[in-house]
Amino acid sequence: MKTVLITGASSGIGKELATCFAKDQFHLLLTARSEGALMEIKNQLENQFGVKVSIFKADLSVPAERWALMHWVDKETTALTHLINNAGFGDTGLFENTDWHKNQQMMDLNIDALTHLCHHFVPKMKAAGFGRIMNVASTAAFQPGPSMAVYFATKSYVLHFSEAINGELKGTGVSVTALCPGATHTQFAKVAGFNDNGIFDASKKLPTAQEVAEFGYKKMNQQKSVAIHGFKNYLLANTSRFFPRDMVVAITKMMMK
Ligand SMILES: NC(=O)c1ccc[n+]([C@@H]2O[C@H](COP(=O)([O-])OP(=O)(O)OC[C@H]3O[C@@H](n4cnc5c(N)ncnc54)[C@H](OP(=O)(O)O)[C@@H]3O)[C@@H](O)[C@H]2O)c1
Repeated sequence: MKTVLITGASSGIGKELATCFAKDQFHLLLTARSEGALMEIKNQLENQFGVKVSIFKADLSVPAERWALMHWVDKETTALTHLINNAGFGDTGLFENTDWHKNQQMMDLNIDALTHLCHHFVPKMKAAGFGRIMNVASTAAFQPGPSMAVYFATKSYVLHFSEAINGELKGTGVSVTALCPGATHTQFAKVAGFNDNGIFDASKKLPTAQEVAEFGYKKMNQQKSVAIHGFKNYLLANTSRFFPRDMVVAITKMMMK
C-alpha cells in the first residue's frame, strides 16, 4: 500500500498536500503540533475519500519528539513510500533584534528535523527500491534575505541538501524534489510577523496553498529535482545568479522593506 508521511499537515500547503495524496488513495500519516486541526483533517479526508488517516502530535524542533514520530511511523507501516518534509516557519526582523530561541527553533525545524527524517527513511526506501521525497524549500533559497536572514539561509540549506541527496540517489528508485513556493496565501506571513509588506501585500493576489500543493505533487511524481512555483518566481530565482551578489542582496533588502 502507498503510504505517505506529511509534516506540517495541520494547515496551509501541508494540509492541501494531504488532500492530493488522499485523492490518490494513499494511507496518510499526518503530523503537526495542533492535534485538534489534525483530527478535523483526518475526519474530513476519511469521509470524503474513504482513505485511512493516522495522526501523530509532535513538535519536530524537539529531537525526542522526532524520534517518537519515527518510531510511530515504523510501527504504522513497514514501507513508507512517500515522505513530505513540509513543516517550517520564518521570522522577520533585523538579525541582531531577533529572538535567539525562535532562531534556534527555526533551524531545528527547518533544517534538523527535515535532515533527520530523510536520514531515517532514505535507507529503507533505497532497500525497497522505491521512494519519493518532497522537501519544501522556498524561492528564499536562491538568495540571501536581509530582514529574514536565518529563514532564507535555512531554505538555502534545504535546496542544496535536497539536490545533493537526489544526485546521490540517482538510479536507486528514490527521488528527492525541492519544492520552492514564492509568497503563498497561508498562515506563514502571520507566523513570520509580516505587516502587509511588499511580498505579502494584502492587495496582491497570492497563489493559494492548493495551487502550490497540486504543483508540488505533480513535480514530485515527475521526479523533478527542483520545482519553482510560478513563472515570475522561476525567472527571479534563475536570473539572480547572473548579477553581482552585493546587488542581489541590495535588491532583496529593498523588496523586504
Ligand atoms: N506561505 C509561503 O509564502 C511560503 C513560501 C515559501 C515556502 N513556504 C514553506 O512552506 C512550508 C509550509 O508552510 P505554510 O505556508 O503552509 O505555512 P503554515 O500554514 O504556517 O503551515 C506550517 C505548518 O508547519 C507546522 N509546524 C510549525 N512549527 C512546527 C513544529 N515546531 N513542529 C511541527 N510542526 C510545525 C504547522 O503546524 P502546527 O502549528 O500545528 O505545529 C503547520 O502545519 C514551510 O516550510 C514554509 O517555510 C511557505
